[in-house]
Amino acid sequence: MVATAGTTEREGWSSRTAFILAAVGAAVGLGNVWRFPTLAGENGGGAFVLFYVGCVFLLGLPLVISEIFIGRTGQNDAVGSIRKVAEKSGAAKSWSAFGLLGVAGAFLIVSFYSVVAGWVLYYVGVMGADFVGALTAGEPLRGALVGESQEAIQGRMGDLFANPALLLAMHLAFMGVTLFIVARGIGSGIEKAATILMPMFFVLLIGIAIYGAFVGNMGEAVAFLFTPDWSKLTPQVMNTALGQALFSLSLGVAGLITYGSYIKGSAGLGPTSVTIAFADTGVALISGLMIFPIVFAVGLDPAAGPTLVFQTLPFAFQTMPGGALIGFLFFVLILVAAVTSSISLLEVPTAWGIGELGWSRRKSSLTFGTGAFLIGIACLLGYNVWSDVRLLGFWPLFAETDILDTVDGFTGKVMLPLGALFTAVFVGWKADRNLVEEMTGLSGFWLGIWRFLIAWLCPLAVGAILVTGLFPGILGG
Ligand code: PHE
Repeated sequence: MVATAGTTEREGWSSRTAFILAAVGAAVGLGNVWRFPTLAGENGGGAFVLFYVGCVFLLGLPLVISEIFIGRTGQNDAVGSIRKVAEKSGAAKSWSAFGLLGVAGAFLIVSFYSVVAGWVLYYVGVMGADFVGALTAGEPLRGALVGESQEAIQGRMGDLFANPALLLAMHLAFMGVTLFIVARGIGSGIEKAATILMPMFFVLLIGIAIYGAFVGNMGEAVAFLFTPDWSKLTPQVMNTALGQALFSLSLGVAGLITYGSYIKGSAGLGPTSVTIAFADTGVALISGLMIFPIVFAVGLDPAAGPTLVFQTLPFAFQTMPGGALIGFLFFVLILVAAVTSSISLLEVPTAWGIGELGWSRRKSSLTFGTGAFLIGIACLLGYNVWSDVRLLGFWPLFAETDILDTVDGFTGKVMLPLGALFTAVFVGWKADRNLVEEMTGLSGFWLGIWRFLIAWLCPLAVGAILVTGLFPGILGG
């Protein structure tokens, strides 16, 4: 069968539940279980966390509604959808350019995302082998990696980082799975993956969180995560928190425009978006409450950075009853979350290739999957052979960061806020008001609140945070 793009009917979600599962799957990912604890730890806990939650509900949620609105109205890839909304609203078609910014952002993010997910895959292997060892020794409930010293366990991360071939193999495997799912399309690829993996994720999350509450130091973790020391809330910390809120909700890179474009029937965007925002934030906070009690119970440093989850936790699982099993399940949980997010990231450029370049899904996903894989290789080499490379070394903000952190930081601190800013101005000021009302299903009080947030608060707050965060000297400090 020869299907030319444009002549076949565009795919779509089979139901509203399917859309919600896929969107929650996109939102809940490494951002929640790896990036959030890392950043909360690095940025001093409470003040960062509370500012982050504020960003989610005052800025993120209105943007979730806006992105889904654009996609649902446009029924096309990110660029095509924005163009359609602009047309229907009598606005300039050139607005669609910010869709391109999103496509580029998603493409860059998936490149390093897959590398980090590769570390997770490696730990699934390490912990899985250990658990099998425990089983065969007839001690299924023993701790993890028993008999290994703390140095040896933490050294495993260093060994992995020093081994480009191993990093590459993991990155390849993860990107391969992502590509495989995206190439199968919406119904039998992305939707199917989300409907299998997301319920599995939630069962694991709740199980491990309950376990953590029993064995960890919950009091200290709660104090760390929720007692604000406002003096720690510098412009850079605010910029990081905003970037994290956007990243975690999959905003600013047209992820939700793209997923929203596969909604066929009607859907009240308010309740749907609230569900996504609550689920995402809930998972981030539960992850914090799962990880920090364990970190404090064994007296480790919460500000360890990107290696926190990988170096701290395997060691912590050693002393815990059933640690071998729980440790293994913990990394499976992260891996599951990562897959449903990485497919949403790769879907953004893939849909763009299909919609704007007229490519087949296969060609498009393969092209962008391979491209992201290659950029990911540069990221992973930044931990060993290219460890001196500073991609944006001229910019004080990125003067000290390796390749992966630079791509992560640049997308998170620059591209995402910019994408969010354009989305807010476009939907808040340019989109036709009747169209917005009809397609979002919002009315009355909530419509008024949403309009205020998207037209005024989002542009002002995101703009201010961008400027002060990126150019720290500007406040004279
Ligand atoms: N939200 C995902 C996470 O938290 C990452 C992501 C960003 C996915 C942007 C899609 C688009 O891991």
